[in-house]
Amino acid sequence: MNTFGREFRITTFGESHGRAIGVVIDGVPAGLELKEEDVRRELDRRMFCHIPVLNPRCEPEEFEILSGVKDGYTQGTPIAIAIWNKKVISSYYDELWMKPRPGHADFTYYLKYGRHYDHRGGGRASGRTTAALAAAGAVAKKLIAQLGVEVVGHVVELGGVEVGKPYTVEDIKNSWRKPLPVVDDEALSKMLEKIREAVLEGDSIGGAAEVWAVGVPPGLGEPHFGKIKGDLAAAAFSIPSAVAMDWGAGRGLAKMRGSQANDPITIRDGKPSLATNKIGGTLGGITTGDPLYFRVWFKPTPSVRKPQQTVDLQQMTPTTIQFKGRYDVTTVPKALVALEAMTAITLADHALRAGLIRRDKPLP
Ligand SMILES: Cc1cc2nc3c(=O)[nH]c(=O)nc-3n(C[C@H](O)[C@H](O)[C@H](O)COP(=O)(O)O)c2cc1C
Repeated sequence: MNTFGREFRITTFGESHGRAIGVVIDGVPAGLELKEEDVRRELDRRMFCHIPVLNPRCEPEEFEILSGVKDGYTQGTPIAIAIWNKKVISSYYDELWMKPRPGHADFTYYLKYGRHYDHRGGGRASGRTTAALAAAGAVAKKLIAQLGVEVVGHVVELGGVEVGKPYTVEDIKNSWRKPLPVVDDEALSKMLEKIREAVLEGDSIGGAAEVWAVGVPPGLGEPHFGKIKGDLAAAAFSIPSAVAMDWGAGRGLAKMRGSQANDPITIRDGKPSLATNKIGGTLGGITTGDPLYFRVWFKPTPSVRKPQQTVDLQQMTPTTIQFKGRYDVTTVPKALVALEAMTAITLADHALRAGLIRRDKPLP
């Protein structure tokens, strides 16, 4: 399945070392202002070029909006975006052919597709596919902005270092001016140290990202299998290396008594609303009108320079591999941008499903 969403529907394509990766987006109404810069901004945010150790492949993405946009506005037709793969060095992967990297999808792709999968650069399972998500996210973010919805995210844990101070949504936005979007400066310098250590040791680290969606109208999401929480969980787990998710106060809530965990109901501006938002903006899978917020954890990058145990599938003998190619020392910062994108895409889909935006009529 390479398609996600019902009304706002994305189909991604491409492998890491093929000609291009990209996305076809269907469901965007006519009349949405969309410029190349909008897509460029999200692709650049994903690169983290200013931290060279974070991006061994650092060069601006070359992409083309192939269809669906005319004179800076969407036409209501499918928007296809191709992102060209450049500077790929496939030779690093020669010795990995039939020697699956522990922790990577090499193993299961071999079990499922046999010799037919393109293992170079991780093929279809590569983190590079998140560039296509970022591009689609650019479109979704612009569409939900029509409703006043904004999606922001930051890194909350890296290499075991956690953000330790309280913050606001404004702090999250401002954190993007720092080398990494981390609201807590002390945690940030420790995280950067963890990155340096992992690079020196030829290893990798994991961590967590948090996303907030503000301005979300009440009433998005449907019972039973169209819950906003369920759809966002599917969206989050489509991102390679995602391993866990906490919704709202998450695990913290599970440790409380019900009387502490419940958000009291009150009247605000003459309307019933929740006095607090520990639950993270949904009840019964339907949005409350409060911000949605959740955290997703990402495991350490599978490819590392240290020797790892595997097997030679041609000889059926045990062997070790030591990855010599370029790898992301952590997937978290780039995955965060993909997570923001998938959040915006899911909300755009639900806004269309709820009829808040009509796909069959030009935007006013
Ligand atoms: C943005 C991003 C970049 C990634 N970069 C790498 C990488 O450089 N090397 C690698 O082995 N895995 C990388 N991964 C992780 C693999 O794609 C992922 O672990 C693999 O496909 C197995 O999928 P799973 O971890 O979801 O089970 C990256 C993931 C993301 C999201």
